[in-house]
Amino acid sequence: MYSSDGFRQIDDETFTLRIPKGRDFRILQLTDLHLGFGFISRGRDKLALDAVRKTVKKAKPDMIVLTGDSIYPFLPKAGTLNNRKQAKKLMEFLDGFEIPYTLVFGNHDCEMGSTCNKEELAKLYKQGKYCIFTEGRKNLTGVGNFLIELVDNSGKVFLPLVMLDSNMYGEGGNFFTGFDCIHDDQVDWCMERLNELKQAYPDINAMAFFHMPLREFKEAYEKMKLGDRSVIYRHGNIGEKNDHFGISKFEGTFFDKAVENGVIKWMFCGHDHLNTLSLIYKGIQMTYGMSIDYLGYNGMKKNYTQRGGTLITRKADGSVDIMMVPLGAVVSTRVRGVKEK
Ligand SMILES: [Fe+2]
Ligand SMILES: [Fe+2]
Repeated sequence: MYSSDGFRQIDDETFTLRIPKGRDFRILQLTDLHLGFGFISRGRDKLALDAVRKTVKKAKPDMIVLTGDSIYPFLPKAGTLNNRKQAKKLMEFLDGFEIPYTLVFGNHDCEMGSTCNKEELAKLYKQGKYCIFTEGRKNLTGVGNFLIELVDNSGKVFLPLVMLDSNMYGEGGNFFTGFDCIHDDQVDWCMERLNELKQAYPDINAMAFFHMPLREFKEAYEKMKLGDRSVIYRHGNIGEKNDHFGISKFEGTFFDKAVENGVIKWMFCGHDHLNTLSLIYKGIQMTYGMSIDYLGYNGMKKNYTQRGGTLITRKADGSVDIMMVPLGAVVSTRVRGVKEK
């Protein structure tokens, strides 16, 4: 577990991290690394690790948040089911930056048939020298529902980061039966924690990080395309074919409850590697992180406009700035009939 003077674990679902007043705090969201660390994925892993290195160097973050599918124990593509080894290698790699990092699980980190379940992976991640992680409250759905509260010198909380496990596949239990969502007990837990914070700090705003997009993200996008001016476009686009959002077949109450509760102002997800959209809907900015993946999607090596990270800057004046950090040039020079140099 990460350790420093300004960092404390309060209980099994809460951490505090002290940030000196009067300076910006930079969080780099990285998502869908899909690291295989198997004999077939070696070349692509190297590309992914290089991409992460470059993105971190560019963004110079104070903290890194991985929003799921960090490792990929999928035999046909990685050549291994050993997600214990994958998690260890990932941890070693991330510890090398000497920057605190945290993560949520995606649908692939504990793919069917993999060596470790989420509880075992959690135990492992807690050993990371710079890793901030905990299983979270017992008996709650998912593993890794917890809060990192950014506090100032006086211990006053100014920005809670809510980490949520958006689970895997729901009924049917595999990729083809559809995705699960954040369950009601997690939603209740989250709102209960935010209500407590709201009582102590009436103006507090929070960020939430999870893997799978909410169906309301898609709803907002479609409304925006139909000219609904209440949806505010911020950046990015939907690069998935046919405007695809990998949302759950279950309704899920997280978004509505968050709007009602009013504390969460920013939500960050991954999962759809080609989507980078960020927009504001009903007072909440929903953002797809730029992704890293070279291994998950077929032919992903040559796609590049989606690759990189997302830099979230909480400025000293309290405002929040969310920026894409593309890995390479985003403007293609490709023109039909002209060979690219
Ligand atoms: Fe993914
Ligand atoms: Fe995913």
